[in-house]
Amino acid sequence: MDIFEKVTNRREGLAVLAERTHGQVTFPKLRGDVGSHMDFGGDRHLVWSLNNYLGLANHPEVREADTAAAAEFGLAAPMGSRMMSGETAELAALEAELADFVGKPDAFFLNFGYQGMVSLLDVLLTRHDWVVYDAHCHSCIIDGIRLSGAHARSFPHNDIDRLGRVLDQVDRKRAPDEAVLVITEGVFGMSGNQGRLREIVALKAKHDFRLLVDDAHGFGVMGPTGRGTPEEQGVTDGVDLHFATFAKAGASIGAFVAAPRELVWHLRYTMRSQVFSKGLPAPIVVGNRKRLELMRTRPELRAACWTIAKALQDGLRAQGLDLGDTSSPVTPVFLRMPEDEAIAYLALLRDEYRIFCSGVTYPVVPQGVIQLRLIPTARHTTDDVTRTVSALPEAYERVRGEAR
Ligand SMILES: Cc1ncc(COP(=O)(O)O)c(C=O)c1O
Repeated sequence: MDIFEKVTNRREGLAVLAERTHGQVTFPKLRGDVGSHMDFGGDRHLVWSLNNYLGLANHPEVREADTAAAAEFGLAAPMGSRMMSGETAELAALEAELADFVGKPDAFFLNFGYQGMVSLLDVLLTRHDWVVYDAHCHSCIIDGIRLSGAHARSFPHNDIDRLGRVLDQVDRKRAPDEAVLVITEGVFGMSGNQGRLREIVALKAKHDFRLLVDDAHGFGVMGPTGRGTPEEQGVTDGVDLHFATFAKAGASIGAFVAAPRELVWHLRYTMRSQVFSKGLPAPIVVGNRKRLELMRTRPELRAACWTIAKALQDGLRAQGLDLGDTSSPVTPVFLRMPEDEAIAYLALLRDEYRIFCSGVTYPVVPQGVIQLRLIPTARHTTDDVTRTVSALPEAYERVRGEAR
């Protein structure tokens, strides 16, 4: 059989939705400056879909820094992988600033979060190690674990009793030279709840393991000074590897892992996604330094995001919508309707109410879950919230009414 035919006949993952949703729910084309209002299908929409928590995407100082760096460096420099010819003073400065921000001795800047995580796990884990991870972890963690070949055990989402029992089993089975890595997230990007870092760190009193936290959605957003979920939960030192990406609040690309100096030094020479790949263009690095500076020095951006998040979540809950147990700006609305109805609901919100939010289904979230996902940002206003709080339940009732 032809391999192309075989692949395209295999209906799997989100591809099963393609025929019904392409261009609308999946691969929609948003146009215009990134912000709370953008153009979709020729109409102005109120947009709740972008992880632009602090509104940095279009912040004037960010735009100015990006533009100046693009003019100075262009998109080619530096050429080659960092190890061979692509190292720069700007990269070293960014890494020192990131380490300082999240409270670790050193940090390694990575081209992308997804590849970075896969490659990090490739270095950390061998077939003679154990990895224990929250069942709701992001695909980059799942894929990295799979490729590592390590003995892998998951625990049900945020179930610390089960994690303890899994660690008991692992302790019984592991050989003396086999190490244990526990992985969770700071903020889970779909449900908005936080990994129970404090309780996981407390398990170190009984079990010997290192803790890796992917804080993609907490970076710049969580904690009194925006350093992330470890700061929020007061466990900066108990988290051994702090991982995050600029793709969310940073409104850019690039990621980083922060950890003890000797380990970071080893990662620089062994992470295959970095050693065998060209470094990111210099303007990205310069632009990321500006973003980090604003995260550090403009607490009002974080406060604005949280004000909108609280108003939106309180308002939607008061209307009887199910937001689960989010404790971050990520605002899920769990739907009790079949997939076709959920697609109709999203389309109604977009076509008639001009409200653009995301719908999420398996395999992005566990099987059986269908949810909307709204991301409040520093760019939204209380008027945006009022409009949304009245539109979402109204459109929900209309779709349910038509289905009955
Ligand atoms: C928890 C988590 N980790 C990693 C990533 C990947 O980051 P990047 O977009 O930088 O590849 C994401 C983005 O979706 C994420 O949500």
